[in-house]
Amino acid sequence: MKIAVVGTGYVGLVTGTCFAETGNHVTCIDIDEKKVEKLKNKIIPIYEPGLDVLFDRNIKQGRLDFTTNLKEGIKGAKIIFLALPTPPGEDGSADLSYILGVAEDLGPLLDQYTVIVDKSTVPVGTADKVTAKIAENAKVEFSVVSNPEFLREGVAVEDFMKPDRVVIGTSSTKAQKIMEELYAPLVRQGNPIITMDEKSAELTKYAANSFLATKITFMNEIANMCELVGADVDMVRKGVGTDSRIGKRFLFAGIGYGGSCFPKDVQALAKSAKEVNYNFEILNAVMAKNKEQKTKLIDRLKDHYGSDLKGKTVAVWGLAFKPYTDDIREAPALVNIKALLEAGVKIKTYDPEAMDNVKELLGDSITFCKDEYDAAEDADALLIMTEWPVFRTPDFDKIKSTLKDNVIFDGRNLYNTETMAELGITYYSIGRAIVK
Ligand code: UDX
Repeated sequence: MKIAVVGTGYVGLVTGTCFAETGNHVTCIDIDEKKVEKLKNKIIPIYEPGLDVLFDRNIKQGRLDFTTNLKEGIKGAKIIFLALPTPPGEDGSADLSYILGVAEDLGPLLDQYTVIVDKSTVPVGTADKVTAKIAENAKVEFSVVSNPEFLREGVAVEDFMKPDRVVIGTSSTKAQKIMEELYAPLVRQGNPIITMDEKSAELTKYAANSFLATKITFMNEIANMCELVGADVDMVRKGVGTDSRIGKRFLFAGIGYGGSCFPKDVQALAKSAKEVNYNFEILNAVMAKNKEQKTKLIDRLKDHYGSDLKGKTVAVWGLAFKPYTDDIREAPALVNIKALLEAGVKIKTYDPEAMDNVKELLGDSITFCKDEYDAAEDADALLIMTEWPVFRTPDFDKIKSTLKDNVIFDGRNLYNTETMAELGITYYSIGRAIVK
């Protein structure tokens, strides 16, 4: 099948590459000339494990190409995916100007029946808006389908190739058939394609992400309770997670969720609810609590050192919002670093992938180090912000000999409290006893 993907961000690039891998001919289109030039030169502008192999192979096989020209790119395409940004506007609602702009351009360019797919996370009613925009100038029949993605950064390729489910929102049987044909190779293991109306599909995406964000926030609240009553959140997690109705995943307490999806989607769903005069109160609590949670360890630093942190040096391990990505959007690390800089603290940091992105943002106001030990050298304390595997089993003797005060503030609960006690390290974590 010939496919076009408009937008070459995380979602667009993974979608395009993976559909090429299943034998389709895919053209990825982007208005950013520099980005397209890079892609043509086989340079992937994002870090996503496993994408490079598929990317190289499909370019070589002539199934994957790139252009800035919408008209050329969609020529002969049976399906056009819209994988465009939907950033939050000032009021928190999703900004649809990119999507509707492309929809407007597409109308006069369509020359055969085409399925246009909303892949971006968009508010309920967007498929109707896109349909109306295209219809303004379309001369041929077309269908607009909502097909939300459920890709986690860092494992996006795996999530794409082996989806738990594929949600297809359409009221057209013709479009449904074409979409089922496209997804057939990905659901061979029996995972379902769930077909529904467009609005339900659009809401499914927001419901899934908001539910997961709520699940995490709930556990963060339980962690806060644990600290006050002397319980251990890891034990509580195991105790509740083994109930199959609750499930083991997304129950890890920490310094709050970040990334490009959860914060934006929770906010957008709350805004959508408001628009239909519904007070989705739990979402407001989730947003407020998550914000508080992100800087929780700064309070612990102040408990430890006193309220004046001026002149201290803190080693920060991890900058990305989670491991296996260079993405720093809404990353707890940034909020903490900014707060510490304002308090007059010097920062030395190491992250395996995200340092370049932070350099662009913060320049030389912090020190970027060659590895985790270099960051800890001569620092007073260590602050852990991302659970990269390399931070899980460090050489503690080396850390003890480099850190000035033997104190670790761990936002990801990487270490056993017993081990820390044995090592004589002062250890603050989330929802567990303080080791002194
Ligand atoms: C998420 C959804 O999982 C994906 O389905 C959707 O399409 C896009 O948004 P992503 O943002 O890549 O994916 O990351 P994810 O692995 O879901 O983690 C989100 C945030 O939650 C991270 O900040 C992570 O640290 C945090 N998290 C996750 C926790 O704090 N505790 C957990 O138990 C799980």
